[in-house]
Amino acid sequence: METILVTGGAGFIGSHVCVELIEAGFRVVVIDNFVNSTPEALERIESITGERVHFMDVDMMDLDSLDEVFLTYTIDAVIHLAGLKAVGESVTDPLQYYRYNLTPLLHLCECIEKHHVHRLVFSSSATVYGPPQHVPIPETHPVKTENPYGRTKHMSEQILKDFQRSYFPVKIVILRYFNPVGAHQSGLIGEKPTGVPNNIMPYITEVAIGRLPVLHIFGDDYPTRDGTCIRDFVHITDLANGHVKGIEATERMDPGVAVYNLGTGKGTTVKELLHTFEHVTQTTIPFTIADRRSGDVAVSYADVRAAERELGWKSTKGIEDMCKDAWRWQHLNPTGYVKR
Ligand SMILES: NC(=O)c1ccc[n+]([C@@H]2O[C@H](COP(=O)([O-])OP(=O)(O)OC[C@H]3O[C@@H](n4cnc5c(N)ncnc54)[C@H](O)[C@@H]3O)[C@@H](O)[C@H]2O)c1
Repeated sequence: METILVTGGAGFIGSHVCVELIEAGFRVVVIDNFVNSTPEALERIESITGERVHFMDVDMMDLDSLDEVFLTYTIDAVIHLAGLKAVGESVTDPLQYYRYNLTPLLHLCECIEKHHVHRLVFSSSATVYGPPQHVPIPETHPVKTENPYGRTKHMSEQILKDFQRSYFPVKIVILRYFNPVGAHQSGLIGEKPTGVPNNIMPYITEVAIGRLPVLHIFGDDYPTRDGTCIRDFVHITDLANGHVKGIEATERMDPGVAVYNLGTGKGTTVKELLHTFEHVTQTTIPFTIADRRSGDVAVSYADVRAAERELGWKSTKGIEDMCKDAWRWQHLNPTGYVKR
């Protein structure tokens, strides 16, 4: 049985990745410092899978503690998800983002080389593309980062390419996520943003549960079919499964770096998402139209053919599943992860 180290494994994406890995037959070791998550998430992963999650409470800013993980376990491959992800915060405190998103990666690369690990999957973001010159967006689309968060992702990708050139045996898969939404269908794990959500789906569910009074739709005068922005929403379970495929790809690929989009390849408007949510959950979501947000692009969706062809990965769930599962999670856990 192969052992996969998942950094940030208690987080939104990490918890779902752990479930998919365990269900695919991998042993999972999680490290997390709970800066944006809670230990309860790990217990929920164990409830879903019936398997133990090996865990070490490690802040990746501390190289010695990270090294200890590689001394404790024989790691076959790593999925690196730990990091900070709020775009707005990265604008007000860029140094924090450069420090906390780049230092852990440098430490990880050091440990990977020192302990002769050859396989790594890294979580990047479609934000690296900036305003698309055309859609769907292929991996070859030029990169144009527009905020410090996006720049940390682009810099991380470049660090990994340089690292690979210096540590030849390593095989790296970079995954650029589009818009992960939804929750595990058990309703046991999901996304719990702190404060007012930056993303549309948790915003909708928080209005539905009554924690927020009204949904703000930022702009309805975009050149799209209903005037609201078009995004490529992808179910979190599909996205998590893409990591299993990424790990499997690092087994068979030649040393090098490969980049893949994870999305559905389909665009959905904000209003379409909202109306689907209302329809499948039988709720009514009050909304107002607010000014456009700076930095938002009208249309963004992925060209997913490379992931299909080379990873053998394709999304399976549609917008209705995303809405139903997000609502089940929110409904069963109105205040997020509270011990059962
Ligand atoms: N959620 C999205 O929409 C999205 C989109 C594109 C890319 N990503 C990237 O995917 C990754 C995971 O995102 P998420 O949505 O699960 O975020 P999250 O905040 O839910 O999960 C990140 C996890 O990393 C942990 N962490 C952060 N810094 C750490 C450190 N120094 N040491 C140990 N643990 C640390 C946090 O406690 C948290 O559990 C991030 O790198 C994010 O930038 C997310």
